[in-house]
Amino acid sequence: MSDLTPVLRLEDIVKTFPGVRALDGVSLTLLPGEVHALMGENGAGKSTLMKVLGGILKPNEGRIIVGETPVVMSSPLEAKAKGIVFIHQELSLAEELSVAENIYLGELPRKRFGLVDWATLETRTNAILERLKVGFDARTRVGDLSIANQQMVEIARALTVDAKAVIFDEPTASLTDAEKVVLFDVISGLQEQGVGIIYISHRMEEIFKITDRISVLRDGSYRGTVNTADTDEEAVTQLMIGRKLDLTGNESHHELGDVALEVRGLSCGDLFRDINFEVRRGEVVGFYGLVGAGRTEIAETLFGLRDPSAGTILLDGQETVIHSPIDAIARGISLVPEDRKGQGLILGMNCRDNMTLPQVDDLKAGPFVAEGAEVSIFDQYRDRLDIRTPGWKQLVGNLSGGNQQKIVIGKWLSMRPSVLIVDEPTRGIDVGSKSEIHNLIRELAAQGYAVIVISSEMPEVLHVSDRIVAMYSGRIMRTFTSEEVTEDNLIQAISGITPDKAA
Ligand SMILES: Nc1ncnc2c1ncn2[C@@H]1O[C@H](COP(=O)(O)OP(=O)(O)OP(=O)(O)O)[C@@H](O)[C@H]1O
Ligand SMILES: [Mg+2]
Repeated sequence: MSDLTPVLRLEDIVKTFPGVRALDGVSLTLLPGEVHALMGENGAGKSTLMKVLGGILKPNEGRIIVGETPVVMSSPLEAKAKGIVFIHQELSLAEELSVAENIYLGELPRKRFGLVDWATLETRTNAILERLKVGFDARTRVGDLSIANQQMVEIARALTVDAKAVIFDEPTASLTDAEKVVLFDVISGLQEQGVGIIYISHRMEEIFKITDRISVLRDGSYRGTVNTADTDEEAVTQLMIGRKLDLTGNESHHELGDVALEVRGLSCGDLFRDINFEVRRGEVVGFYGLVGAGRTEIAETLFGLRDPSAGTILLDGQETVIHSPIDAIARGISLVPEDRKGQGLILGMNCRDNMTLPQVDDLKAGPFVAEGAEVSIFDQYRDRLDIRTPGWKQLVGNLSGGNQQKIVIGKWLSMRPSVLIVDEPTRGIDVGSKSEIHNLIRELAAQGYAVIVISSEMPEVLHVSDRIVAMYSGRIMRTFTSEEVTEDNLIQAISGITPDKAA
């Protein structure tokens, strides 16, 4: 590869925010046709570096060289004109506009007299959408699309320009397996055309599957670049977090208590049918299945966001009706939602207030909120979850993506619910914090909480659960104890293969 002229070089980039040195002299070289992973813990500076490259943030120091030419990236449009396309971690689409308008925003094809050429716009857009094998078209309003499909629109944008470099910032966080296959096809297509790809993800399997080189940041500093073929997960993790990760020590066995939650014959239209299970105090029950199996919908029903069409919910043996999240919270049920962006956070509010929002009433001393109590809750969970922020006053919108997720998790944990439901608890979370969150889940169970963990990551459910409920197409196929479960019988169950049929 040494005879290739790099697509671009970043040299000694420094970027500071008030109280934070987000990038401390970082350099990176991107070669044509390579997939270059950018890794590091939550808050390490990955998105910031890419925002500098993409013309969104101005660096305090450093140079950007595209091909052989030093450039100043003064805006995203300028970056795009230089062939650098950025697919964001936080979706940045205009919900009110159509898919086509979003894809060509700022450069809509025009006819004479400056009128938008809608026919051309649609034909071009649909041609790209076809390549991506998506189930919507140019006219669809972006606000009507699922998060995953909105992500596909972001990806479609990348294919409209003659790109030299494409940056993917955690593109798979909300994609299904089928959509991931399409994305990886797109990436290898770009690669064949000699486009350089920068790929940010916390998912090691992906990194080792599709990347050629890996560069690592830690606390805003550059830690090194390695060939993917010459390294392994452990070495990369060590480079990222500066220590070895202790993945053992989770064998906490404790006595199970009474049944905290029991669900009998619960159904909700076509979403799920005849669901029966129980969770004891001290127990972690994992829900595993493919996207669309109905797991999130069950969680939403237990949390009062959906009304069941049949069945009963019992809390501590008492039949209960839950019509709203307020009912659920009052009865001791908390849900850490899957879509934390949409349902969990107020970006323009500070870290502390976001975390203590649901319990302001409890913290009130007379007419005032006891500020000390709020700050101490925040401090406790900041330490526990290793939330990187200069202080509680920082606006949540200024935190890195993964640290925002930790705030939401802290918010629901700090309510000390008796039944805690967490939906995809470690999506977007770095490896170090991931095992910390797993330990925390086990610890909460040990303290007597009943915990439901919904996850699409098999190692995660296997690791944290005492029992695993396998779902397929709105039904429970089988419930496994941790002794009987294997990867094979779990995969069979979630593919809809019953033991009889398999035999
Ligand atoms: N607009 C901003 N104002 C203040 N601080 C910021 C701003 N943007 C980023 N930061 C800080 O800069 C640091 C690096 O953040 P960045 O978003 O680059 O992290 P990241 O590596 O992308 O993490 P993640 O894996 O969680 O997405 C963090 O400490 C973050 O809080
Ligand atoms: Mg980021």
